[in-house]
Amino acid sequence: MNKWDERYSGSEYAYGLKPNAFLVEQATLLLPENPLRVLSLGEGEGRNATYLAGLGHQVHAVDGSAVGLAKARQLATERKVIITTQVADLTDYKLDLAYDLIVMIFCHLASPVRTHIHRQILSSLNPGGLLIYQAYSPNQLKYGTGGPDQLDMLVTLEELKQNFSPMQLLHGCIREREIKEGTFHTGLAEVTEFVARK
Ligand SMILES: C[S@@+](CC[C@H](N)C(=O)[O-])C[C@H]1O[C@@H](n2cnc3c(N)ncnc32)[C@H](O)[C@@H]1O
Repeated sequence: MNKWDERYSGSEYAYGLKPNAFLVEQATLLLPENPLRVLSLGEGEGRNATYLAGLGHQVHAVDGSAVGLAKARQLATERKVIITTQVADLTDYKLDLAYDLIVMIFCHLASPVRTHIHRQILSSLNPGGLLIYQAYSPNQLKYGTGGPDQLDMLVTLEELKQNFSPMQLLHGCIREREIKEGTFHTGLAEVTEFVARK
């Protein structure tokens, strides 16, 4: 059983049932009412995918944890929304084309995998398509309130600007946030936030 399957094996939701607050802020600001084709990478147990599906979007959720995605499907049933799920390792994952929105929320990857996925995000988005991305910053190591303990897996704003150039930057910052998401993200944290349009 991998680390994530183990983390998700209880009946509680490890990152809670509420959608990520930054995602809600950005979705409220930016998403149109017409249905978008959405990809959520590293979706986990479905809190964000079911939120977006509840707004009327067609959401495909990808994660390496079969246990997490089973809970995501259960949550979708309870919330009476439809999502599709795919268990896949992002290390060699090939993104489908033509998404209108790609979401990466706290999906921390080793830097070579991150580079691979970032390249694919850039080519997979439709013209005008959006990327909503939040990750812990390197400085988060000093906060100890969640996220990986390896510097290589933490994300700088500079990296995102470089990797997603020439997308139009809509929001980009490193900031402190009080994050309370289940039992694993708890307290003041430093995050890197990035929203861009292709
Ligand atoms: C901190 S959790 C965040 C889950 C979700 N995005 C959320 O905000 O609730 C990170 C997720 O990334 C997934 N993940 C990490 N590395 C992965 C990889 N190489 N391939 C696929 N999924 C991966 C894990 O299985 C886990 O569900």
